[in-house]
Amino acid sequence: MKLRFMKLGFLGLLGSLWLCPCLAYKVRQRRELPASQIQTVQELTVALPLLIINMTNCTGLIRDGSLATNVSFHASDYQHDLPFVMDCAAGFYAVLGDFMAAASEGPSPCVPEDLRTYMACIVAASCIVQAAVPAHVSMEVYAMILEQVTRFEEITWPLLRDALLHEEGGNSLAVDALLPEAYICDGSEHDHAFLQFDAKTSRETSLRQLTSMVGTEHAATMSMALDLKAAAAASHQIMNSHAVNASLDETIDKLQQAWHPVCQKLGCDHTNFWDIYLQHHKHALALLETKHAGLLRSDIKLRFHLEQRVQRFMADTQDYSFIEKYARHGQEHHSSHQVFHAYHDSARASMLEFAKSVVGSLSYERAKRLVNLHKLADIEKEAARKERSAERSASSHASGRPSEDEAEEANEKMQLSLLEEVEDEGEGAEAFWDRRRRRRRRRRIFEAVVKVVVQVVETVVEAVTAALACAGQGGNFVSTGYTRSLNGNVAWSIGLAGGSSDIMKDILNGQGPLGWISLGAGFSVGSTTDVWWAGAGFGGSIGCNARYGWRGKSRGSCTMDLTVSTLACGNVPTSSSACPFGRNFAGMTCSSSGGYFVSIMCCSFDLTNGGNTCR
Ligand SMILES: *[C@@H]1O[C@H](CO)[C@@H](O)[C@H](O)[C@H]1NC(C)=O
Ligand SMILES: *[C@@H]1O[C@H](CO)[C@@H](O)[C@H](O)[C@H]1NC(C)=O
Ligand SMILES: *[C@@H]1O[C@H](CO)[C@@H](O)[C@H](O)[C@H]1NC(C)=O
Ligand SMILES: *[C@@H]1O[C@H](CO)[C@@H](O)[C@H](O)[C@H]1NC(C)=O
Repeated sequence: MKLRFMKLGFLGLLGSLWLCPCLAYKVRQRRELPASQIQTVQELTVALPLLIINMTNCTGLIRDGSLATNVSFHASDYQHDLPFVMDCAAGFYAVLGDFMAAASEGPSPCVPEDLRTYMACIVAASCIVQAAVPAHVSMEVYAMILEQVTRFEEITWPLLRDALLHEEGGNSLAVDALLPEAYICDGSEHDHAFLQFDAKTSRETSLRQLTSMVGTEHAATMSMALDLKAAAAASHQIMNSHAVNASLDETIDKLQQAWHPVCQKLGCDHTNFWDIYLQHHKHALALLETKHAGLLRSDIKLRFHLEQRVQRFMADTQDYSFIEKYARHGQEHHSSHQVFHAYHDSARASMLEFAKSVVGSLSYERAKRLVNLHKLADIEKEAARKERSAERSASSHASGRPSEDEAEEANEKMQLSLLEEVEDEGEGAEAFWDRRRRRRRRRRIFEAVVKVVVQVVETVVEAVTAALACAGQGGNFVSTGYTRSLNGNVAWSIGLAGGSSDIMKDILNGQGPLGWISLGAGFSVGSTTDVWWAGAGFGGSIGCNARYGWRGKSRGSCTMDLTVSTLACGNVPTSSSACPFGRNFAGMTCSSSGGYFVSIMCCSFDLTNGGNTCR
C-alpha cells in the first residue's frame, strides 16, 4: 500500500506527463449518469473483463510466444508489437472512446496509440463503471470486474510493460502516465471513508461515519470492515518488520494474535492465513448488500494486497515452516471454501447474465467490436451451417423445392465479407473507397438476409459468452514438485502423485510417458524465478498415459485443458514425496507453492514441452 502511494507520488512530480486536466468527465461528483450514457457504460462494463482476457493472452505471447502453439504472432521490437497490443484493446478503446466523446469537450486522454496511458485508462474505466453502481450495474458485476482489474493492475500490466520496455524502441514506457484526477477513484472521495481516518480518529467516530453512509442495518458489516482493515494493517507491519535473522515462530505468533479477535467474530481459524483469506469473502458478501461500491473496491484491494504480502513473505523467507505453521494450504474449514466459492460464483453468474443482455441489446456493428473477428467468423460459420440444415429439413417437409441454394450463397457471401473485414483491419493501408464499396456491398447482403442478421447478433452474444466462460471462477492453486524456471519468463513444476518414478524421470527430461502416471503440475508464463512466479498460470493435478496403437505401446503425452489465472506466488523449498529423487535433482529444486486464484481464460498445455494454446 505504502509503496503504491510512493510510486504515484513520484510520478505526480513528472509534470510533463500530467495530461490536460480540462477534459474531465466528473466521475467524482457523484452526479447521476446521463440517460444517454447508460448503455455505453454498460457496454464498457462488458468490455472490461474481455479486455483483461485479451491483455493477459497478449502478455503471455509477448513475454514468451515461442511456446505458444498455432499462433502466427512473434514478438520482436516495439514498433512491430505495438499494433498487436493495440488490437488486444481495440474493442475496449472503441467503447471508451464513445463514452469520452459524449462526456467531455476536448480530446480524450485515452487513445489506443499511447500505451503509457493504458493502465490509467483501464482504472479510469473501472471508475466510470463504479459511478453506475448500483443503479445500472449490480454490485456483483462490479465485484467480478474489480477482482480482475485489481490483479491485472498489480501483476499482469507490470509484466507487459516491462517486456515492451525492454524491446528496442520501447523506452517511452518507462513511466505510466497519469490521468487528471477526475478519472481517478482510488484514494479519492469514494475511498474517503477510509482515507480520512488516521491513527487519531477513534474507532467510534470511524464507525459512526461509515454507518451513516450505508445505514444502521449494516452497522455490524462496517464494524467488521474496520476490524479487517486494522488486522490487515497490523499483518503488513509485522511482516515488514520481520528481520532477516528474527525468529519466524515469533512472527507467526504475532500474526495469529493480530487475527484472533477478528476471527472470533468472522468465524475463521486465526492460526491459518488461508482460512482467514477464504472467510474474508464472507465480509465481501455482506458488502454486496450495502450497495456501496467504494467500500467494496477498498475491500477487494485490501484482501488482495494482504495475500500478495504473504506470498512475498514466503518467497523472501524461503522457510517451509511458515507454510506448515501459518499458511497451511488445504487445511481450511470446509465452510470457508463454500464462502469463497459462493462469492465468486455469484459474481461470475451475474456478469454472464449481464453480458448476455447488454450485448444482445446492441446493434451488430457495435457488439462485434468486443470480440475477436476470426472467432466470430467461426461461430457464424457454424451457426449458418445449422441454419442451412434446419432449412433443408423444413423445405423437404414443405414444398420440396430446394430454396437452400440461395440462402447458402447469401450465407457464404456474408462470411466472406466478415473475413474481408478482418483482412481490412489487418492491413490498415487499404484505400478508403475500397472499404466503402465493400461496406456497401456488405450492407446489401445484410438487408437481403434479415433472418441471418438477427442470428448474427446472437452469435456475438455467443462469442462473448464463450470468451467469458473461463473467467471469474474461484479456484485453488497448488503445486509441489521439481521446479524449473526457463529464461525468466516461463516456469513449471512437476511432482509425483502416483505411478512410477521412472516415468516421471522421462517427463522431467521432456519425453512423453511410457505408462500411466499421475502428476501434480504448475505452470506460469510471466516473470519467473525459482522462488517467485508471477503472471498467467495454473496449478493442479493431471494423469498422463502412454499411447496404445496397433504396434503396441508408444510414448504418450501429458496434454491438458485447464483454466489459467493470474498468479503471483512464492515458491518455498521443501522435501516431499512428490519429489522422489531427493530435494535437488538435475538442477531443479523441490519446492512448494499454493494459493487461491480467480480464473481468466481456458488454455491447453503440453507438460512435456511447455507448448500451450489459449483459445
Ligand atoms: C494447431 O493447428 C492444427 C491445424 O490447424 C490442428 O490440427 C492442431 O490441433 C492445432 N493444435 C492446437 C494445440 O490447437
Ligand atoms: C480483443 O481482441 C480482439 C483481437 O484479437 C479485438 O478484436 C477485440 O476488440 C478485443 N476486445 C476488447 C474488449 O478490446
Ligand atoms: C544472520 O545470521 C547469519 C548466520 O548466523 C549471519 O552470518 C548473518 O550476518 C546474520 N544476518 C543479520 C542481518 O543479522
Ligand atoms: C490469444 O491470441 C492469439 C493470437 O492473436 C489468438 O489466436 C487467440 O485466440 C487468443 N486467445 C484468447 C483467449 O484470447
